[in-house]
Amino acid sequence: MSELAERVARLRQRINYHAYRYYVLSDPEISDAEYDILFNELKRLEAQHPELITPDSPTQRTGTAPAEGFTKVTHPAPMLSLANATSPEDLRAWEQRFRKLLPPDTPVSTVVEPKIDGLTVVLHYHNGLFTLGATRGDGITGEDITANLRTIRSLPLRIPIHPDAPAAPRHLVVRGEAFMSKADFAAFQAEQAALGRHYVNPRNTAAGALRNLDPTVTASRPLDLWVYQIVVREGGPEIDDQWSALQYLRQLGFPVQHTQNRLFHDFAALVQYCQDWQSQKDSLPYEADGLVIKINSFALQEHLGYVGKDPRWAIAYKYPTPEVSTRLLDIVVEVGRTGVLTPRADLEPVTVGGVTISSATLHNADYVAEKDIRIGDTVVIRRAGDVIPRVERALPELRHGDEQPWQMPATCPACGGAVVRYEGEVAAYCENSACPAQLVRRVEFFVSRQAMDIAGFGARQAELFVQQGFIREIADIYTLHSHRQQLLDMKGYAEKKVDKLLQAIEDSKAQPAVRVLTGLSIRFVGAAVAELLLAHCGSITALATTDPQTLEQIEGIGPRIAASVHTWFSEVDNQRTFARLQQLGLTMALPAAAAAPNPALAGTSFVLTGTLPTWSRQQATEIIKAHGGKVTNAVSGKTDYLLAGDKPGSKFTKAQQLDVSILSEADLRQMLGLEEA
Ligand code: IVH
Repeated sequence: MSELAERVARLRQRINYHAYRYYVLSDPEISDAEYDILFNELKRLEAQHPELITPDSPTQRTGTAPAEGFTKVTHPAPMLSLANATSPEDLRAWEQRFRKLLPPDTPVSTVVEPKIDGLTVVLHYHNGLFTLGATRGDGITGEDITANLRTIRSLPLRIPIHPDAPAAPRHLVVRGEAFMSKADFAAFQAEQAALGRHYVNPRNTAAGALRNLDPTVTASRPLDLWVYQIVVREGGPEIDDQWSALQYLRQLGFPVQHTQNRLFHDFAALVQYCQDWQSQKDSLPYEADGLVIKINSFALQEHLGYVGKDPRWAIAYKYPTPEVSTRLLDIVVEVGRTGVLTPRADLEPVTVGGVTISSATLHNADYVAEKDIRIGDTVVIRRAGDVIPRVERALPELRHGDEQPWQMPATCPACGGAVVRYEGEVAAYCENSACPAQLVRRVEFFVSRQAMDIAGFGARQAELFVQQGFIREIADIYTLHSHRQQLLDMKGYAEKKVDKLLQAIEDSKAQPAVRVLTGLSIRFVGAAVAELLLAHCGSITALATTDPQTLEQIEGIGPRIAASVHTWFSEVDNQRTFARLQQLGLTMALPAAAAAPNPALAGTSFVLTGTLPTWSRQQATEIIKAHGGKVTNAVSGKTDYLLAGDKPGSKFTKAQQLDVSILSEADLRQMLGLEEA
């Protein structure tokens, strides 16, 4: 390296380190003026020698705007969400649930972290360099907001920050939360109010800033970051638990919460901490809507796995939010897209947390009955964060005597069809798949961003097109073009708008299989479950004929989901809908890797054993399948490869006896060309 190049590299490293002291540790070692001198020298040298500019240079935080919106990024593992606990009892019930799945007296430590109320971001580092940052999106795919994330000063552009820290792993993907601190928000809000612009809360403001198409705008917003989870890691030291992972991330120079994080070996102490922590919540410099509790050991996490989209090894603890009372004017029944009937309270409008509320959920008939909530009652309403407001309880001492008890009607209010309840389920269903209210909801969901993402098609259009008889089932969305003239005759549907809509519908035919499957509104099948099912079965067509017992074998799929999928595909109307979607030209493509199987794995059979260094069992299975291989449970003469990790067990011996090739994760990566050169 030339002397000049060395000087530039050294400056860059020093500046990044001092920025870290300032923005992450809030403990600068040098004055602002000294920092500026270093920074200006680097800027000057880079201007004279642009060939020396590197992507991790502190001068390069604000780049150029993405020309065409954000591109989609598929996450290396689904970004799971969390189940909630709101009381000590809930926490103890959670403990009982996971204890049942562990050998008796297994010691279980837990890590508690604040639940930061910001936006999940997924950050990728290759050989220490920040290369990609994405939003959570639907948990499966997010949006590439790398340019915007680079503007966050506490986000390391290169790790490790400190030269004495351990070397960066070859590949690292971490999850964190981008947010705006309370103080920064207040200052920003005041400054903007003077310009006549109004911002309501830090979270929405941070969200807007991160999704702004112009990174210079993002750079002007005071965003911050906490990192709390390793998603993927190749290389680096052995790490067995969350607590060590947090220390490790901090060593590498990531901003990691440390004043509020705690490690507990005793569950009762943890419960106590959660109860007591509420008093600290409001004095934090940023908004937190509760705590996240994670089982510390990665081995136990792996063992417990997850149900649907929630891990069994973690839970969110949330605190009760303010309550107000108002009059319950009426109870109306709403019909959902899968036929679920939900009682909704019509309320005398009331303000909670700055928002006026005139309706709230009552969940289900049991809830109304247990709480003896009557029409005409004065009721207590609670609204927590973004959550739909709900009726908490009635105040019977304020009754006049003319309040009316309520029951779930025996017939669907929309179609008059029979209302059914299944044993063990609280939900009541309208079982009429031709119910117009269900159809409107299904269409609305099918075209929504969560499923086929058809622009210009929303609730209003769904309602109108069903009402006009243009759409009698989901597949009719793709024959809407045959009603073009009728559409043009309607008020508010000019030619340009209609053609744009029809084009958007046409374009959506290329959406991947996972979106189609999600869009079908099969009970209990959201995006995360759809992804799992497809990873296992390969296609919707194959899924349709897979028996429920086989589906239940998939990690994350229980009997309820398996039965629901099976029932859906056994109904003639549904079979017809699906067949029509195929005939009408939906491609239902699988992810690129699956569509073009790697010849190295096509037709091969794998068995997995032991703990792999970075992939979970689930991930390894998905990767093998995506490359054309299959995964079975037991080693036999038909097994081609044993993918073995740490503590392999009896399958290993068996494989040796049968002369089955044994691969490590690294070997497999190499076979698939996933290893770096
Ligand atoms: S862990 C499986 N830790 O809370 C791991 N999440 O539903 C799931 N969040 O949207 C996430 N602070 O964005 C985790 N310390 C923390 C968190 C945290 C905030 C958010 C996260 C997610 C939601 C959980």
